[in-house]
Amino acid sequence: MTKILVTGGAGYIGSHTIIDLISAGYDVVSVDNFINSSVETFSKIKEITDKTVTNFAADLCDYEKLEEVFQKNKFAAVIHFAALKSVGDSVADPLLYYHNNLLGLINLLKLQAKYGVKNLIFSSSCSVYGNADKLPVTEETPLKEAESPYARTKQICEEIIMDFQKVNPDFRSVILRYFNPAGAHSSNMIGESPHNKANNLVPIITETAIGKREKLAVFGDDYPTRDGTCIRDFIHIMDLANAHTRSVEFLLSGKATESSTIINLGSGTGSTVLEVIHSFEKVSGQKLNYMMAHRREGDVIAVYADYSKAKRLLGWVPERDLDTVMDTAWKWELKRNETQDR
Ligand code: UD1
Repeated sequence: MTKILVTGGAGYIGSHTIIDLISAGYDVVSVDNFINSSVETFSKIKEITDKTVTNFAADLCDYEKLEEVFQKNKFAAVIHFAALKSVGDSVADPLLYYHNNLLGLINLLKLQAKYGVKNLIFSSSCSVYGNADKLPVTEETPLKEAESPYARTKQICEEIIMDFQKVNPDFRSVILRYFNPAGAHSSNMIGESPHNKANNLVPIITETAIGKREKLAVFGDDYPTRDGTCIRDFIHIMDLANAHTRSVEFLLSGKATESSTIINLGSGTGSTVLEVIHSFEKVSGQKLNYMMAHRREGDVIAVYADYSKAKRLLGWVPERDLDTVMDTAWKWELKRNETQDR
């Protein structure tokens, strides 16, 4: 069985991807130190897939510990999710973000070179585009200045991978630039459940609706958009997860012609923050308590994807719309509140 290393396997995108990989017949090993995730996620994965995933509770910044994972397993590819991802926290503590996100990748690449693991799928972000001049964003859209240290870590990580590949010509990578992943698994058994305080829009909406927060602050209503709020592209987590399995197949089947293939993953539809709130209110039948507030530092005005390259190279198209994102996110919030799994 082809073995894949998933870093950050207990995390939101990592766990959904593991389920998709297992259903496609891959054997998966995870590295996750649970700084923003829970060990119980692996029991849920077992319930859903009937497979036990081995996890090494190592920090990627700890080279020696990470090396044990490579000593004990022969991997065909690595999918690297494990990283810090809060835009606001990165503005407040940039060194933490540079240390964690860059060193984790560097250690991984060193070990991939040492143990001959020649395929990497890297979790990047649409934030690398900054305030793009033209929408929708294609992979050829020039990268503008990063709006936050988090976004800059993703820009730098992409460059580290490409520089590494210049001296490791057999190495192949797929760099996936995610737009805004949201929603939950159709089983309603896993979803987004960060240990750290949620700071993404969709979990904040559902947490407000269920009463964990008093109200939602809409960050800025004076942007040059159709209703004054920022525009984002919400991509359902199961669609996103499936694109990783397809990326693994793309690399392992030798279809990658470029050493590094950059691919946007978004729904192709831009929604304003208010439209997201209204979609939530429609599917849940709940009125949301929200208020307009100041702009948040580090936010770009509008961004949404052209996903035609993903379609062409991976045969991937997003199958679930914004209402499905909000419906599954809300069902997951109700469920995890019931089971006290927060
Ligand atoms: C950013 C990155 C994205 C990355 C993600 C990781 C950009 C364009 N995107 O997403 O690539 O994966 O961080 O965390 O930089 N909002 C509110 N009130 C809230 C929370 C959010 O109004 O309480 C608004 C934000 O101002 C923003 C939108 O909702 O306009 C989405 O915010 P969020 O969910 O945090 O994601 P991004 O910042 O877009």
